[in-house]
This record gives sequence, structure tokens and C-alpha cells, in this order.
Amino acid sequence: MASVKISSGKSFNSAAGDSMLDSARAEGLTLEYSCRTGRCGVCKTKVLSGETEAFLDELSLSPEDNLNGYVLTCCRFALTDVELDVEDIGALGDIKIRTLPCRIDALGVLASNVLQVVLRLPPNSRFTYLPGQYLDVIGPGGVRRSYSIANAQREDEKLELHIREVEQGVMSAYWFGAAKANDLLRLEGPLGTFSLREKDARNIIFLATGTGIAPVKAMLEQILKAPETVMGKQIFVYWGGRTESDIYWQPELTQLAAVFAPVLSRASSSWSGRTGYVQAAVLEDGIDLTQSVVYACGSENMIFCAREVLQKAGLPERNFYADAFVRSN
Ligand code: FES
Repeated sequence: MASVKISSGKSFNSAAGDSMLDSARAEGLTLEYSCRTGRCGVCKTKVLSGETEAFLDELSLSPEDNLNGYVLTCCRFALTDVELDVEDIGALGDIKIRTLPCRIDALGVLASNVLQVVLRLPPNSRFTYLPGQYLDVIGPGGVRRSYSIANAQREDEKLELHIREVEQGVMSAYWFGAAKANDLLRLEGPLGTFSLREKDARNIIFLATGTGIAPVKAMLEQILKAPETVMGKQIFVYWGGRTESDIYWQPELTQLAAVFAPVLSRASSSWSGRTGYVQAAVLEDGIDLTQSVVYACGSENMIFCAREVLQKAGLPERNFYADAFVRSN
């Protein structure tokens, strides 16, 4: 058994075959993560000393990352004692991941290819999460899919999901063809570490594509419950879609110093709003990125491009938080 030390000086044991991410969690330390399958890059961490071994392909690392000593903690265990350049996330330490039964409370249509699904938990489930996190729904036949929670914690504990239709998707066939109110499902969660952080940055920038707006909506609801937490800060919400019908929701931000900018990549000639891509829109607006924190959720491509161009334009590396939607059929 090897020992893994993180930047705060805390340490945990790592056993062969178990990811460092899971080993840390087993000892009450939460490291940044999202997909847990090597694809999103959220758990990318630099190894300062010691040897590790990968048991999953580290798909989101570049050859340059490999040369510079970066690894994915969801894909590796420690071979020797190891030191990582990573912090644990205190706020998530007390939140337990649970598997619970749930029922569909309501189904609604947000757009021609996006459903709103509201889940109801057994009374007094005390399902606690941070806005921004996601959960896995386990549906008919044990099929499991991940969805961001689209609302901040509610008294009635109901959970809203935004579900996009995936062509020939097994779970999509259920959601769009068979799901009805009161269906019994199971969920596992909350998962991921995407959530608001306490940062000094003057600007808070949200970037979303498609149903990536769901966790942004949840985080905005959290901010609206306690607007004093963002006093003196400017909030920008950029939401990218292809056409007008992709912009299926409008935030209520009048209480905040906030700007909402839908950005379309294939707008019709009648569209008078922003066009192009969300990361380009941020650059066009000339926001001081050295004084900003970014929360991005949506396609892997947007996240990859946004991280690259915004960091080149001055965004501190540790001020980019992301949750990439990794596609499953
Ligand atoms: Fe490790 Fe996504 S690559 S959590």
C-alpha cells in the first residue's frame, strides 16, 4: 500500500487497482472530478514525486501533459509513495454519495429535443448536494446515465433535470418514448465537484452549451438565495446553441449585476442577438480575465477550446472549473 500526499499536507493510502480519486474519497478527501473515465480532464493533476500506474486510458491528456508529469487521478493508482500538486475540496467532504429510489414527478417539454424531468424522492430523504453537481439515473434494464441537477436545493427535495434526446440512445428511447409520471427509477449521487467556489475574482463567468445550462441554472438559483455572496461582482452568463430553439430558458437576474448573452452558431437571419461561440463572445466583450473565475459546462469541444483561449488571454489556470458532457448512447 502506497501513501499519497496532497498540497495541504494531508495524505491517503492508495491500493493497486483503485484510482487515487476513489482512494482519497474512501478516506474523506474529495479531489476534483467529473466523468471518472479519463475523458473530461477535470481530475488532471501534476505528480511532484513518486511513481503511478494507469489502469484506464488517460484519453484527455496530451503528449505534452504526459511529458510534464500530469496524470488523471481517476485512471491511476500509486506504485510508490507519491506527492500530488492538488488540493482537496473541503465543501464536498461532508456530502455523501447515495443510491436512492425516486419517481418521476413531472415531465415537460423544454424544446423539441429537450425534456424537463422532475424527480421526487422518498419523504425525508435528505439528499444533499451542491448546485452544479450531477447524478446518475438508473433506468429500465439497469441503464445508467448522468444528468446535471438543474435546481438549487428545494424544501420539497424535488430534482429537476434537462434531458437532451440522443439519436439512437438507449436511455433516450425511454425518456422520449415511454417515461411517464410516477415511474420508479433509482438515482446515485450527488456526483462531480462542479460547484461555486469562494474566489476573490471580480467577474464570475458562466459558459454553457445546450443542456449545460442546467447546472448553471442551479448555481444561479444558489446565488439568488444569497445575493450578498456576490456583492460587488459582475456576473456574465453565456449560453451557446445552434438555433433560436436551443435557447429554451431565460434567467431572472434583475437582482444581480448580471448580463445574459445567448450566442448562436447557426442563427437564422431574423436573429438579432450574438452569434458565434461562447468563448469567442467572452473575448469580444473585453472582460478582464485576470480578475475572473469561469464555470463552464457543456460539450467537450467547448470546454477544451474555452480553457485554452481564456487561459491564453489571462485567466488564471486555477480559475477555470468545468463539467464536460461525455456522450453515451
Ligand atoms: Fe478523471 Fe474525468 S478524466 S474525472
